[in-house]
Amino acid sequence: MSDVEQLQRIITDGFVIFLMSIFTFFGAFFILLKLNKILTLLMMFPITGIGFLVYIFTEKAHKGYREVRKIRGELTSSLQENIFRIKEIKAYAREKKQLAKFSLKGRKFFKINIYVAKLWATYQSWIIFLSSIGYLIIIWFGGRKVLTGEISIGTLVAYIGYLHLLYTPIHQLNHVNHLMQHARAAGERIFGIMDSYTDVKDSLGAISLPTPLKGDVKFENVYFAYEKENYVLKNISFQVKSGEKIALVGPSGAGKSTLVSLIPRFYDVNRGTIYIDDREIKSYKIFYLRSQIGIVLQEPFIFSGTIFENITFGKEEVSENEVIEAAKLANAHEFILNLPDGYETDVGDMGNLLSVGQKQRIAIARVFLKNPSILILDEFTSSLDAESESLILEALERLIEGRTVFIIAHRLSLVRNVDKIFVLNEGEIVEEGTHLQLLRKKGLYYKLYNLQYPLEKIEKEISELNKLF
Ligand SMILES: Nc1ncnc2c1ncn2[C@@H]1O[C@H](COP(=O)(O)OP(=O)(O)OP(=O)(O)O)[C@@H](O)[C@H]1O
Ligand SMILES: [Mg+2]
Repeated sequence: MSDVEQLQRIITDGFVIFLMSIFTFFGAFFILLKLNKILTLLMMFPITGIGFLVYIFTEKAHKGYREVRKIRGELTSSLQENIFRIKEIKAYAREKKQLAKFSLKGRKFFKINIYVAKLWATYQSWIIFLSSIGYLIIIWFGGRKVLTGEISIGTLVAYIGYLHLLYTPIHQLNHVNHLMQHARAAGERIFGIMDSYTDVKDSLGAISLPTPLKGDVKFENVYFAYEKENYVLKNISFQVKSGEKIALVGPSGAGKSTLVSLIPRFYDVNRGTIYIDDREIKSYKIFYLRSQIGIVLQEPFIFSGTIFENITFGKEEVSENEVIEAAKLANAHEFILNLPDGYETDVGDMGNLLSVGQKQRIAIARVFLKNPSILILDEFTSSLDAESESLILEALERLIEGRTVFIIAHRLSLVRNVDKIFVLNEGEIVEEGTHLQLLRKKGLYYKLYNLQYPLEKIEKEISELNKLF
């Protein structure tokens, strides 16, 4: 915002001054030439000097201002981060350290501002000095011409008067130049943001269907890298039928979150293709595609506003009854009614006034209302607190009913009952199958499971399952 303000100044004030100065400058110059050519030619020396100074200053000031804008931005975001993360800072007793870091940035900001101010002051004095030299030249050479009778004293006085008119716009233009350098640095930052583009766009002829998607998902030799050639997912192929429940497990950093983020096209694949209902996902309009996919993350995001607004976040044209129905399915209705203003309760900044379990149930209600065909649960279950766990698990069970579901869970006990488990390691699907098949295989899944449960218990479970199937 302060960058925009800076740019605004040059447009409102700078532009008018610039036009006025240019006209006055050339007008005065023209009259000076008419009055006396030789004196005007002599005047070119100090004016060229001024031009040279302007060039040097402009370059230096621009670099200085660029730094000023950058540090100002850093200062603001550091302030925001510190306020936003005040709990963590207190928990680690980092107040002093954070303050010191902030002061350091503040001092840097101070220094660079002083540097630019000094630059401006030096430059200003040089301009005044060179202007005075101009007067000196005119009085010296002009005075001699008056003495020899070449020009009248009236001409000299008029000349000096117009010379003043020539200098005034030069000083004003300097001021504009000063504003301009500040605005240029601000403009670079603004356009840096405005010119950033998203790679993910609707492709030509993309469609949105009048009906919901069924929810068949197919990955075909999918490769994906966040940065060039550094593949996070390699040759991923699988097929999921509508309504199937799929679990993705694997060590941290294996690429599970990345894989599911490709389905709503948060990123586009580098190679390979993803299909939903036998159509490439790129052939759907992004808005339509995302309206068919529900996502619940570990830390459900709650916006400031009322509970009602938060539940209707994904779908706004709904009746009150639908919202209540969704909240009931999410096991949230009871606690909402106990809040001071029920559904109209303000939840505070980012839902500060709610517990994590309550936030999660609101997030679930949101998905119920949206009613997507495909559901993604990324680590959702890992931060459940014991008290609300059963309530949430019950709501989740209702939620996954009849949808294609991708579950990412570290707690493997939660993925036992899914239709199929994909085990990811370093960006590749290394094992796939049901819980029992994978346990029998004694591969990576077995190892991961063993990290959470003792060997005897697993062996017992396998033998029990063996009897059943
Ligand atoms: N936005 C990003 N930019 C660059 N690299 C990323 C980005 N997000 C993830 N990565 C990298 O991609 C790899 C896979 O990350 P991903 O988040 O998919 O792992 P994960 O399997 O979900 O791990 P976890 O179980 O810890 O959540 C990691 O090496 C990670 O460093
Ligand atoms: Mg993850």
